[in-house]
Amino acid sequence: ARVDKDGYKHFMAKEIAEQPTVLSAALSAYLTETGIALPDPGVDFAKVDRLTMVACGTAYYACFTAKYWFEQLAGLPVEVDIASEFRYREPPITPGTTALFVSQSGETADTLAALRYCAGKAERILSVVNVPESSIARESDLALPIHAGTEIGVASTKAFTCQLTVLLVLALKAAVDRGRMTEDQLQDVLASLRALPGTFNAALGRGDDIRDTAHELAEARDILFLGRGLMYPLALEGALKLKEISYIHAEAYASGELKHGPIALIDQSVPVVVMAPKDSLFEKTISNMQEVMARGGKVVLVTDAAGASIAGADAWKTIVMPEIREVLTPLLYALPAQLLAYHTAIAKGTDVDQPRNLAKSVTVE
Ligand code: G6P
Repeated sequence: ARVDKDGYKHFMAKEIAEQPTVLSAALSAYLTETGIALPDPGVDFAKVDRLTMVACGTAYYACFTAKYWFEQLAGLPVEVDIASEFRYREPPITPGTTALFVSQSGETADTLAALRYCAGKAERILSVVNVPESSIARESDLALPIHAGTEIGVASTKAFTCQLTVLLVLALKAAVDRGRMTEDQLQDVLASLRALPGTFNAALGRGDDIRDTAHELAEARDILFLGRGLMYPLALEGALKLKEISYIHAEAYASGELKHGPIALIDQSVPVVVMAPKDSLFEKTISNMQEVMARGGKVVLVTDAAGASIAGADAWKTIVMPEIREVLTPLLYALPAQLLAYHTAIAKGTDVDQPRNLAKSVTVE
């Protein structure tokens, strides 16, 4: 079926706005009234010793986020890799390894080759895909669709948040299977997860601050993104989104790594986007933010009301997100990352849906 823009100026804007709906679809596919349900044959994570996750681009950053979830919630060791590196390194696949491939299209050549490398070596091949008939889905023992619907904008948005949703559900199942989470704790997280589409919708309504900030970012030549913990992979995704569609050089660092190099770049001309909900690492991230400001750096602080009341007055710009429990922050903070990139690209007048030199799906090496 032909997909149109439904009155939006770009597919990317439409796909960003669709997220509450597709997140609900992804959640209903994997959550029952009482818990988590995976399609047959399912997975028992108590029998998994190690998870190897492989992908490209935005899907890789979804995997990187999931590493934090699987390790922290389920105590499951996770290796994440970029498919083009993984496939040629001859990585040993130890017994008890489950390999998990994440791909919107399900056709990315490097990811498919990495999957074929693992076939017959890994205990089990899982995939998280948007296209259930794709090669990667067909060649997996269990393919988990993300239910994002057709994504046309080259820069992935709704597929990313749906990938995160499915990966978080898997990590929660792993936590239960491995005896790391009680039924009550699970129900508590699931209640917040079920509320996510509503929270996301509320955040969509606050887009104006982001647009104003983006108009100023459009003047920059280089932009840094910083984050710690769950916000580190998201900072990487934010920088990728921005460079893909606005052509502004953007780089992300783990906040704690700032002093090991990138701080040398800071002056008044380099805006620094700091992703910092008021989570367990907030104080540490804010002290990194102060190091940036002490060197004249202009900070765009993306936080919640509690974070803004502590650190917002010092920042150049503050973007305030609704409150959300810590484990779900990557799902919600993907939105400001997407909107900053989108509005910056609009301000620069680039082709948002078809950025130069990029393809939606890279089916050749
Ligand atoms: C291309 C697209 C990206 C995407 C990546 C991986 O680079 O432009 O948006 O994240 O491929 O694609 P996949 O279909 O495997 O998720």
